[in-house]
Amino acid sequence: MILGLQTLLLFLLQTPGGSSQHSEAGYWFLQPNVLVVNTDLNIHTQMQIPLSCGEAYEGQEVFWRNEGQEIDQQGNHIQVTVEELTGGNYSCHDSNGSFLNHTLVLVQLLNGKSQARKILDKVENTDYIQCTSRNYSGIFHCSWKWSEGRRGDLFFAAVTRSSGQSNISCAADADRSGMICLDRTHCPYTEELHPIDLTIYVKYWYRVEKYTKQFYIAGIVKPDRVRLRKAHGNTFEWEYPSTWNIPDSFFPLHFEVKVAPLNKDCDAEGEQSRVRKNFLFCVRSQDTLTKSGWSEWEQRK
Ligand SMILES: *[C@@H]1O[C@H](CO)[C@@H](O)[C@H](O)[C@H]1NC(C)=O
Ligand SMILES: *[C@@H]1O[C@H](CO)[C@@H](O)[C@H](O)[C@H]1NC(C)=O
Ligand SMILES: *[C@@H]1O[C@H](CO)[C@@H](O)[C@H](O)[C@H]1NC(C)=O
Ligand SMILES: *[C@@H]1O[C@H](CO)[C@@H](O)[C@H](O)[C@H]1NC(C)=O
Ligand SMILES: *[C@@H]1O[C@H](CO)[C@@H](O)[C@H](O)[C@H]1NC(C)=O
Repeated sequence: MILGLQTLLLFLLQTPGGSSQHSEAGYWFLQPNVLVVNTDLNIHTQMQIPLSCGEAYEGQEVFWRNEGQEIDQQGNHIQVTVEELTGGNYSCHDSNGSFLNHTLVLVQLLNGKSQARKILDKVENTDYIQCTSRNYSGIFHCSWKWSEGRRGDLFFAAVTRSSGQSNISCAADADRSGMICLDRTHCPYTEELHPIDLTIYVKYWYRVEKYTKQFYIAGIVKPDRVRLRKAHGNTFEWEYPSTWNIPDSFFPLHFEVKVAPLNKDCDAEGEQSRVRKNFLFCVRSQDTLTKSGWSEWEQRK
């Protein structure tokens, strides 16, 4: 069952090399060739950032380009100006124009309240990142929502247990609005002692934003729909979802059953007493012990 994930894991996202706090003005490297400038627009709208091509090119003739356009600074060390949200992608070249190295300069706004709208919107007005798992096997899915008119990209993700002893890898969804993760050290049969810490950096043009979430798998479990069939007459039978952990006795679910008018859906409220002949039979399940999320309704006429 974990095999299906292998192909996705080819697109492994980078995992962290010790995550430090970067909450002050200044700049730091998110990845070897990615420099992030922390900008507080209330303090300054312009910053000088030193870039270097690399130690190996010390003393050589070095030319620079930003997004392919030559800039009028030369040498191994230069200073570039980051104004408000304009980062850049700086490459350095030898005297023949051959590519030597590059640094992507991104801007992270401190004090998110400032004028700029965020790259992500809250999902259903709750949180920027929503995670669910259909069982306790250690596979979970997290997703987010681009704010209107902003189709950003997942740039970097780090997912660990605070115990420091996890082996979690994630792969971005094809549309980059979510990712699926596998915690190899997670055991369905034992209590989860440490929460999962998730950090993502999303990028929109040269802007980057950090979002975090902390959760337990037990807190995000939402079973798949039950397997429901009409036996005969008005008798319905259902089984645990096929993706739920076994044995059922160790992973008990409880069920909510209701009928709804045929022309409504299972969420319809308040009309059950009037439903007689033509009705929709609805059932959903929830983990009995953790009472985390309800499954979607399964329905039959
Ligand atoms: C290329 O630039 C990065 C900084 O963006 C630096 O860390 C790295 O050492 C440089 N590579 C070489 C080969 O000098
Ligand atoms: C930045 O430039 C490098 C080297 O030209 C290129 O490989 C990379 O894809 C560029 N990145 C972005 C985000 O444009
Ligand atoms: C530039 O190209 C010439 C001819 O191709 C070569 O002889 C020379 O070494 C190159 N110079 C650099 C700095 O790479
Ligand atoms: C995590 O698990 C994978 C697959 O079993 C393994 O290749 C990798 O070395 C593990 N990483 C760590 C840090 O244990
Ligand atoms: C748990 O869910 C994953 C997908 O999220 C699935 O691949 C796996 O087979 C399920 N586990 C069980 C025990 O069915």
